[in-house]
Formats: sequence, C-alpha cells, structure tokens
Amino acid sequence: MAPRDLSIHVNGVRFPNPFVIGSGPPSTNARVICRAFEAGWGGAVAKTVALTDTEVINVSPRYGKLRTAAGEVYGFENIELISDRPLEDWLQEFREIKDRFPDHVLIASIMEEAKKERWQEITERVQETGVDMFELNFSCPHGHPERQMGAAMGQVPEITREVTSWVKEVAKVPVWVKMTPNVTDVRLPAAAAQAGGADGVAAINTILSVIGVDPKTLRPLPTVEGKTTFGGYSAPAVKPIALRMVAEIRQALPDLPVSGIGGVMTAWDAIEHLLMGASTVQVCTGVMLRGHQMVSELNDGLAKFLDEQGSNSVEEIVGASLKHLTTHHELVESQAKTRALKAAARASRDNNWSAEIVKETDALTSNE
Ligand SMILES: Cc1cc2nc3c(=O)[nH]c(=O)nc-3n(C[C@H](O)[C@H](O)[C@H](O)COP(=O)(O)O)c2cc1C
Repeated sequence: MAPRDLSIHVNGVRFPNPFVIGSGPPSTNARVICRAFEAGWGGAVAKTVALTDTEVINVSPRYGKLRTAAGEVYGFENIELISDRPLEDWLQEFREIKDRFPDHVLIASIMEEAKKERWQEITERVQETGVDMFELNFSCPHGHPERQMGAAMGQVPEITREVTSWVKEVAKVPVWVKMTPNVTDVRLPAAAAQAGGADGVAAINTILSVIGVDPKTLRPLPTVEGKTTFGGYSAPAVKPIALRMVAEIRQALPDLPVSGIGGVMTAWDAIEHLLMGASTVQVCTGVMLRGHQMVSELNDGLAKFLDEQGSNSVEEIVGASLKHLTTHHELVESQAKTRALKAAARASRDNNWSAEIVKETDALTSNE
C-alpha cells in the first residue's frame, strides 16, 4: 500500500508532512538540519540568526531538567542564546540545504534590534539563499530582552506590528511571527503581527522559569559561576499552556495559520496541537531528548489517526476539537439542563412504584 499523504499547504507552501523541527539545537547547523530531513521531517526552522556584529556569547552549563520520580524528563529549562555562528556561514548553509532538499521546507529564524535597516538587511540577505519562509523571533525570553530584542519586542504589540511590517516590506516569501507566552493575552501580539502583515504565527516559545535549586549549595539552577538567570521552560510540562494559546489564537484570528509548538514527545501530543488549531507542529526539546528519528513515530501515528477518523487529509483535522471549547458560564447552564432532565427521568422511574399499585396503575392509564 502506498504511504498515506500527510502533506499540508500553509501560506501556499507545501509541507510534505506537518512536522517541523523547532528553532534550537536540533537545527543548529546544516549537518543536523539535513539529518532531520533525511529522517523524514517535513520542515525545519533553523536556529535563530542575527547580523554578524550582534554579540552572542553562550554559557555552560545552560540546561536544567525536571524529572518524575521514575526519572522521566517532563520539564526542561535553557538559558541558551540564539546562534553564535556568523550570518555568512548560515547563508552558505541555507543554500546547501536547499540544493540537497528542494522539497523540504526550510524556514530561517531571524532576530535583530528594533532598527528598520537591520531587519531589512538580514531579511534581504537571507532570502537570496532560497529559504522558503521566515520566522521572526520576537520571543527569546532570556539574554536578548536585556538588549530590547526577542521577547522584549513580542511583549509590546505596537513593536510587533511595526517590525513585522518592516520585514514584510522586503520579504518575498511568507513570514511567521513567533509568539512569546510571557504575556497576559497572547491574542494581542498575534493580532498585532497580523496587522503588520504576518502570514502566520508560531506559538509558543519558552516560558520564563527557574528549574530548581541545588539542595547542597542552595544556588538556583543551571548554576554558572555560582549564579543563574531566569530561563526558558519547555518539554511536556508546557504542552497544556501551548495548546491553550494555539486555541486562543486560532479562535480569535481564524484566518491566521498557527504553527503549534510546545511539549511534543509523541504522535498524540502532535495530533493534539493539530486538533486545537495548528496547521504545522514544531518540536525542539522532544528531538533533544529522543533524537531526529522520532519523526517516524509522528508520521506513523498521524497516518493511523487519519485512517481511524476516516479523514482524507491533515487539513480536515486542523482545529477539529475547537468546537468543543466554550465559556464556563455555558458549562454551568448546560449542566443545569442535563441535571434537570435527569431529575425528571428519575421522578418517573419504575422504582417509584409503592404498595398502592392499583392507584398508580390508574394514574398511568389514559382512559380511566
Ligand atoms: C535549548 C533550546 C534552545 C532554543 N533556541 C531557540 C532559538 O534560537 N530560537 C527560537 O525561536 N526558539 C528557540 N527555542 C525554543 C523552541 O524552539 C520552542 O519554542 C520551545 O522550546 C517549546 O517547544 P518544545 O517543548 O518542543 O521544546 C529553544 C529551545 C531550547 C530548549
């Protein structure tokens, strides 16, 4: 039997399947991105890159894990910055990747200071390499906000709108804006991105966090030279928050495609993102913990799910669960109705019959 078609079109771009490597270590150079495409990922968002004179100095250690009693990782924190490699290296590698994998979707993630000329320069230089799309990183929660980059932009809707419009002025390929979850209402920056001309949004980046404290030294983790800084939380623990934000954006802005990200380890996690309104699903920490090969399980699981549902395409299940979301007020009202119906049914049940059987027979007889 021919393998099931899992392709989906988003913003006119064909993804061979909806599974995309999220920006981070699993997309940190051409070698790993090519390995991802060989393994079967439909697309990859490369590790975020800036113009070469942007200073990026990483520290080590920069990760922390939260485990269940059985040792399974369910929460992950990082204080990693964007790519520390020069833009020129990336430009060369974007070309190589597109030469080798013309049918896989290569998305360049870019970040810069809030200066029009810098955003337009990086957009133009990167798009010459033939990348299929852009993702604007307005969402990195650590390091860059101190310099008014990353989440510092995504937390102010007006800046989100303005910077998106600068990129859209020169971009010839679709542009997604990556949302920070470190806001009260993610619908506001998503709407601002759309107003600035964004073709879609990606949600979510990591959640500001402290992964824990070392019981011996009492120093918060990950500890670098005795101290730490708030970092970005990811992995299965963040999935419920990601699903909520994907659904909120999709409900508020039904014409804006969402790329769902956060906590995907299994095929079912990814299907949940699709059901809540994502048209593609990105995975970062899952790949760091399970390897690029995990995509085989995602593809098989999605194919099986579509068969079981009798669905003809991935598109058909995008947002399929949203109709079951409502307000708490409506839950109360519909439960009151159900309770009233149950009470009425109980009142007329046969076990209400008493010893007065003749009288009760008469009461139920229409021509007495
Ligand atoms: C170590 C690490 C590095 C990351 N680097 C970037 C980055 O450079 N650019 C970006 O947009 N997101 C970055 N992210 C965020 C992820 O792409 C993703 O949005 C987030 O981790 C939630 O998804 P996950 O639970 O699948 O990891 C990084 C995440 C991790 C764990």
